[in-house]
Amino acid sequence: MNTSQTPARLSADEKKALLEKYHPDYQAASFTTLKVGANTGQKAPIELAEMLHSNSRIYGKSFDPDAPDYVADVLIIGGGGAGASAAIEAHHAGAKVLLVTKLRMGDANSMMAEGGIQAADKANDSPAQHYLDAFGGGHYAAKPELLKQLVMDGPQAIDWLSSLGVMFDKEADGTMITTHGGGTSRKRMHACADYTGAEITRVLRDEVHQLNIPVVEYTAAIELLLDENGNACGALLMNMLTEKYEIAHAKTVILATGGAGRMHYNGFPTSNHYGATADGLVLAYRAGAALLYQDALQYHPTGVAFPAQLFGALVTEKVRALGAGLFNAEGEAFVHPLETRDVVSAAIMAECKKGKGVLLDSEKNFSAVWLDAPNIDRVHGEGHIEKHIPGMLRMLMNYDIDIRKQPILVYPTLHYQNGGIDISPDGSTPKIPNLYVAGEAVGGIHGRNRLMGNSLLDIIVFGRLTGKNAAKKAREVSTGKPALQHVEAYAQALKEAGISTGVTSPKLLPAYTRSVNE
Ligand code: FUM
Repeated sequence: MNTSQTPARLSADEKKALLEKYHPDYQAASFTTLKVGANTGQKAPIELAEMLHSNSRIYGKSFDPDAPDYVADVLIIGGGGAGASAAIEAHHAGAKVLLVTKLRMGDANSMMAEGGIQAADKANDSPAQHYLDAFGGGHYAAKPELLKQLVMDGPQAIDWLSSLGVMFDKEADGTMITTHGGGTSRKRMHACADYTGAEITRVLRDEVHQLNIPVVEYTAAIELLLDENGNACGALLMNMLTEKYEIAHAKTVILATGGAGRMHYNGFPTSNHYGATADGLVLAYRAGAALLYQDALQYHPTGVAFPAQLFGALVTEKVRALGAGLFNAEGEAFVHPLETRDVVSAAIMAECKKGKGVLLDSEKNFSAVWLDAPNIDRVHGEGHIEKHIPGMLRMLMNYDIDIRKQPILVYPTLHYQNGGIDISPDGSTPKIPNLYVAGEAVGGIHGRNRLMGNSLLDIIVFGRLTGKNAAKKAREVSTGKPALQHVEAYAQALKEAGISTGVTSPKLLPAYTRSVNE
C-alpha cells in the first residue's frame, strides 16, 4: 500500500456522478411507491413500504383503549439517548413521565455509537461553520430551522453531558480533544475513546434511574392512541415477554424509537441495534403523520467485511479521522477517506463493482477493500490505537486481527435512516397534535446525508427540546376519549387501494429473532 498517497477531494460533479451510478439511494430498484397515507405517491425503500402497507398487529382484535394500565403526563416511547434526554427534561419541567422501551433501558443505536459527537465549541469554530458543513454534507436538504437548532445547541449539549458526568477525552490541561469527521471543516468531534455512545448512554440511563423516572422495559408500543379530535393521548403497548397488551394514557407522547437498520434495506448488513425496526415510523404513519426523506439511507463506509462473525459491525469513522486510508486490492488509495459518508461508500462500492476489491466470496461475488488502520500508529506513534480506538482493537483482536499491524477488510453497512417523521421546530408533528418525535425517528434535521457525530448531538438536542415542550404542552391540554379508530381507517384505506401484504407491522424485532415476528 502506498500510504503516503491521499487522493484529492472530488469535485461536486464527480461526486454526483459517483453517487448516481453506485449509491443505493439512487437506484430505482431499491424503492417502491407508497400507495396509502400522507406520503402517497412518494418513493420508499421496499422493506419500509411493505411495513407501511401492512395492517396493525391488533387488526381484527378488540381492546378497551379507555381502560389504562398506566397514566402519565408525558409518555416517552424508546429508551435510547433521545428518550432518556427527553425523560430527564420532562421530569425537571414537572411532568409525570412514563418511559417504555421494548428491550432494556439503553438498548439502542445510541449505545452503539462510537466515534463522537459534534459541537462547535472551539475558538476557531462557530455554529454557523457547523451549519455550513452539515447543510452541504446533507445535499442542502436539511430543514433550516431544525439544523439551526442542532448546531446552536451543540456547545450547550456538551456542557450538559459533562455536568451529568460524561467523561470526554481531554488533554492534560483539561482542553477537550476534538478531531475531524468526514465533511467537517473544523475539528469538532468530541469523543470518549471509541465508545462515545456507550459512555453517554451510561450517564443518561443513570440519571433517569437517579431521578426515579418510571421505566417499563420489554414493553413495545404497538399503536398510538388518538382521541376523537385526532390528538395523541397514549399508546397500546405489548409486553415482549408475555405478549400481553397494556394501555398507557398520557397528555402528550414522544416517539424516540430510533432507526431501521435491522430491516436490512437492500439486503445490506447493519451496524444497528437489534431493536432498530422503524417502529415509530409505522405507528406515526398509520396515525396520519407525514414522513420526510424516507428514501434517504446512510450506508456507513466501513462495516467489517471479514471475519464473517462481525459482518456489518461498525468500524468507526474515527479510524479514518486518525489517519487510516482506504485501498483497493492493488494497493491503490482510491478515495479521500474523509469525503462525506455517501461519497466514500459509493466509491467503495464502485471499486468492488469494477473488480478492484479483495474477493471474499466468489459464489456471491462479494469483495471488500482495505482500511489501513496501522497507519494511525505510524503517524501518531505507538500506543495511539490502543488509547484512542481500544474498542476497535479489542473487537478485531478477538478474531486474531491485530489492527496495529494488519489492515481491516471493510464494506459499507446500513447505519442510519437519514429520513423519518416530519417535525416542526418545537419537535411536534404538524399533523398529530400532542405527538412529538426525537432522535433517529425524525426526518429533516440532516437532509439526505448525515455527517458523523451529528446523530449523538441530535438525540441530546432534540431529546431535551421535546422533553421540555411536551411537558409544557401537557400542562395546557385536555384530551378526549382514547381510541384506535385510525387503525380501522388505515385498514380500510389499504383495502380500497387493493393492498394485502399478508404481514403485520411494526415488526419490533428482525426476522431472525423471536416469536413476535409473524
Ligand atoms: O463512525 C462512527 O463512529 C459513527 C458515528 C456516527 O454515525 O455519528
